[in-house]
Amino acid sequence: MCSLSSMLVFMALFAGLASGFALEKLHVISFDEGYTHLFGDQNLVVRKDGKSARLSLDERTGSGFVSNDLYLHGFFSAKIKLPADYTAGVVIAFYMSNGDMYEKNHDEIDFEFLGNIRGKEWRIQTNVYGNGSTHLGREERYNLWFDPTEDFHQYSILWSDSHIIFYVDNVPIREVKRSESMGGDFPSKPMSLYSTIWDGSKWATDGGKYGVNYKYAPYIAQFSEFVLHGCTVDPIEQFPTCDASAEDLSHVAELTSSQRRKMENFRRKRMTYSYCYDQTRYKVAPPECVVDPAEAKRLRVYDPVTFGDRGHRHGKSRHRNRAVSGSEAM
Ligand SMILES: *[C@@H]1O[C@H](CO)[C@@H](O)[C@H](O)[C@H]1NC(C)=O
Repeated sequence: MCSLSSMLVFMALFAGLASGFALEKLHVISFDEGYTHLFGDQNLVVRKDGKSARLSLDERTGSGFVSNDLYLHGFFSAKIKLPADYTAGVVIAFYMSNGDMYEKNHDEIDFEFLGNIRGKEWRIQTNVYGNGSTHLGREERYNLWFDPTEDFHQYSILWSDSHIIFYVDNVPIREVKRSESMGGDFPSKPMSLYSTIWDGSKWATDGGKYGVNYKYAPYIAQFSEFVLHGCTVDPIEQFPTCDASAEDLSHVAELTSSQRRKMENFRRKRMTYSYCYDQTRYKVAPPECVVDPAEAKRLRVYDPVTFGDRGHRHGKSRHRNRAVSGSEAM
């Protein structure tokens, strides 16, 4: 028995490594199978076929959805098409969080899309918090090699007990490795998936210089091809139930050398901000940073970045408050 099961584990692991973990072959679910309404009344619309949904922001409110389950590790993904034209101040987030369960020591893994004035491109921001480490933002910002308003593109988060990898269309763009020095700052408690659209006029575009203009509302973000492939956790018992292949994530979270080359190439060309090089915020770079002098030179020429107030993004009432202050800014 014992040797048979260890052989099966070995075979599964080998298959995972050999295939480079076929991210594109994962099971796509309907909106209702994975998600439920979070806030924003009828500003969340699920299409009749159940396979796609849209979130909108207008002068009344933003909107959002949340996963039905809590997950400890997994691969989480959606295809997203962003609103076009004037989108300054608009923020769309696709993220994991347990902020509703742990007020003081929550974890978070974020993709945030920051709108722009007409003719200027959307930017993406990624960030990670662990155990309430909100005093230490680990933001990075990038521009994209395509126009995210023209078509759907896949944005994915892989989270294992040792790695977090952010992907855009299966290109890894950032890897966060759990390290001794990061300590509890590496997300380690079960989280839900969220997606929201909201008014970030105060900070999202050029440090708040350009806010949301409701003349161009509604701002609509479209979502499809939902993948929630992880270990679900019972909120009371806190006991994870894993899909066999999700258990293998820690082994497959190692990037191949060709994936790593793609990631490095992306970062060299597209990264416009990294907390590791922000000497205004961090006199000494946080311990996990590996500072490259050439990168430091390149990234220092970019303007300082303003960040949103995390604490105000979670929970229904706070989302509503934000939408209200948005309409006041009209
Ligand atoms: C998380 O933070 C709490 C204090 O808020 C601390 O007591 C605990 O040791 C931390 N856990 C880890 C794993 O660092």
